[in-house]
Amino acid sequence: MWRYREWLPFEGDPVASLDTGFSPLIDAPRLADKLGVARVWVKNDAVSHPSLSFKDRVVSTAINAAIAFGLDTVGCASTGNLANAVAAHAARAGLASWIFIPEDLEIGKVIGTAVYGPNLVRIKGHYDDVNRLCAQLADRFGWGIVNVNLRGYYGEGSKTMAFEILEQLGWRTPSAVVAPMAGGSLVTKLGKGFKEFIDAGLVTGNSPRVYGTQASGCAPIVRMWERGDSTLVPEIPNTIARSIAIGNPADGPFAAKVMRESGGRGQHVSDEALVAGIRLLAETTGVFTETAGGVTVAGAVALAEAGHFHSDDEIVLCITGNGLKTTEAVSDVLPAAPVIAPKVRDVAALVAERTNQ
Ligand SMILES: Cc1ncc(COP(=O)(O)O)c(C=O)c1O
Repeated sequence: MWRYREWLPFEGDPVASLDTGFSPLIDAPRLADKLGVARVWVKNDAVSHPSLSFKDRVVSTAINAAIAFGLDTVGCASTGNLANAVAAHAARAGLASWIFIPEDLEIGKVIGTAVYGPNLVRIKGHYDDVNRLCAQLADRFGWGIVNVNLRGYYGEGSKTMAFEILEQLGWRTPSAVVAPMAGGSLVTKLGKGFKEFIDAGLVTGNSPRVYGTQASGCAPIVRMWERGDSTLVPEIPNTIARSIAIGNPADGPFAAKVMRESGGRGQHVSDEALVAGIRLLAETTGVFTETAGGVTVAGAVALAEAGHFHSDDEIVLCITGNGLKTTEAVSDVLPAAPVIAPKVRDVAALVAERTNQ
């Protein structure tokens, strides 16, 4: 992602996390058929380096700012993926880290943070309680909390997802992108990234429509967009999409503005629909995403069903995190694998059974 360093808030040479970015953009014709559009691509940050979510991008910019400021400790308030990323990037850079998460996160997110040896603290409460605490802590201990006092640097890292989409499409714009929203920073910065490259004359095509998706159990940005105003009403989260369960999103009004001005929309989906979205993506593209990606795919399906896509649309789905971190979302709905003896006869019986179905 540092190939775009002139577009990032950094002077001089970045020294840490130089190998994050440039995740695959995958052609997904079977999903295009399902959505009734001309083309679909999956921007696959489920395989982001090193911590398997798009949060590697925002930590890459924030940690270089922390190092440039001479800070020796970084931290974050996180719904899980940012915790993974801050712990991994700090370990590699030799910085100390303090990481604060809600107490009820998925085990994959907790272990996927603890393994890097941070100071990991679970807080009794929702993300919004954790975030409030971190706002009080940052200046008191002189830490660089990436999404609090380094937020200006953190946010700009998300623009690189937009830059890569444009470059990977051959320096042209898609018709639309669909992305999940938590704090609303990613959608805001996708809009900013597209605008910067279009204004600079680097790409051909119109500005993409930006669609932001949330889980119905925590959808304050989508509901604000639906009301058509710019006053966010905070919500108490109640969804299995924990990575995007932010009830009082810092960039909510900006994300709603990007959706509105680009001609996109907000869409929320039920937990049941997001689980179906995870399975649909896996079964049609071979990509296993976490709950936030399920919200993206289910949101795209709902938008298509409501007639918001056109048959000549070329759509990019932003898949922002890896399914192995939230296996509990699908473990109960997938068919159990049969256990059989190591006998050809037993396999033949299974084949016959399934062929007859
Ligand atoms: C996997 C995943 N996707 C999307 C988001 C949304 O990010 P933002 O807070 O920039 O809206 C998050 C936030 O934690 C996330 O973990």
